[in-house]
Amino acid sequence: MVQEILSTDVCDLGPGYLHACLLPEQEIQHAFSVALSRYGPAALTYGHNWGALPYRSALARRLTQTTGVRHYPENLVLTPGTSQALDTLISKVARPGDTVLVESPTYDLALKIFRHRGLRIHAVERDPHGLVPSALEDAIETIRAKGGTPAFCYLIPTFHNPTGALTPPDRRTEILTIARRHTLLLVEDDAYADLYLDGVPPPPSLAALSGFRDVVQLGTFSKSVAPGLRLGWLAASTEFCEGLAARGVAISGGSSNPIPSLALTEMLRSGSYEHHLTTLRIQLAEHRDILVDTLRKALPEDFIVRRPGGGFFTWVTLPGDFREREAVAAARNAGVIVAPGSRFGAATPEIRLAFSAHSPDDIHKAARSLGSAWQKRK
Ligand SMILES: Cc1ncc(COP(=O)(O)O)c(C=O)c1O
Repeated sequence: MVQEILSTDVCDLGPGYLHACLLPEQEIQHAFSVALSRYGPAALTYGHNWGALPYRSALARRLTQTTGVRHYPENLVLTPGTSQALDTLISKVARPGDTVLVESPTYDLALKIFRHRGLRIHAVERDPHGLVPSALEDAIETIRAKGGTPAFCYLIPTFHNPTGALTPPDRRTEILTIARRHTLLLVEDDAYADLYLDGVPPPPSLAALSGFRDVVQLGTFSKSVAPGLRLGWLAASTEFCEGLAARGVAISGGSSNPIPSLALTEMLRSGSYEHHLTTLRIQLAEHRDILVDTLRKALPEDFIVRRPGGGFFTWVTLPGDFREREAVAAARNAGVIVAPGSRFGAATPEIRLAFSAHSPDDIHKAARSLGSAWQKRK
């Protein structure tokens, strides 16, 4: 963050955002300038309450191409990013006291949003392939048997935060089948879908597989372009989108961030977004490999250091005799800040390391310090 400056001898591998060297500053500057010339004063008026049509059309075209499933502008509402979209969504589909089902572990700040809105949280088991379908079914039945209301299930099937795992197509279909059987809304957080790092795009989203039935998908440009744009989208059935666009706040103030959305439209139309992604994937893969290879070289085999196929994070399982608290303290003494797994609800000692927020040299240095601190644990 611009606002936060750490001492230069500390490397913080906690936060999941892009290092300044990965932000496409010039492309964004150019896109704003083109958008302002193209739309003139129209760009400066209130935004359409669904979000600008050029933005939703360009996005629908791209999502149709990448998923192979037809998307229409009427399936998309502009959002100011996933965090705000989650908050808005809760106000539409849940009431305080309702329960949200989440994967265990999951994105910690989503939990904060849910708690802040007065939702109860029910953690559902994950395995290396994602949410466990039978555990989801048990959880729904248990909550209902106790008179509770499961408002929705929040999940990250693609390059999951914090584990980096990818849910395969079969598992996606099983999850959809159970959700449908129990009329449970799925909220799919797809923040990392464009950031596949080994040349293999992820399987179709739950939203695409279901044709938007009982699934709301949240996308964001925070991870693939820049979080300062505050720009994303919500993909759902037309009826669901109509309901969102008809909220008083959307009618009164229009959509958020019309100008950034028009600039991003230029990036989508001109091919500059795809071009940027191609470079970004190569850079992130290099960051990931430096982190993973350096740690694997330094650490004994009872540390499991995963190499995710995409996203921002490496998930490390610590040996049974090494407590999370000790690992975090040893890292801190070596000048490296790490994110403890318990922050995300992990029940076993695990650590999340972000490879997105530092230069390759700094990642290498931090990984060497971390490796030597952790291997001395006994
Ligand atoms: C899974 C996930 N969802 C959402 C966000 C936040 O997205 P946004 O900046 O669009 O609010 C993050 C950021 O860390 C994330 O990891």
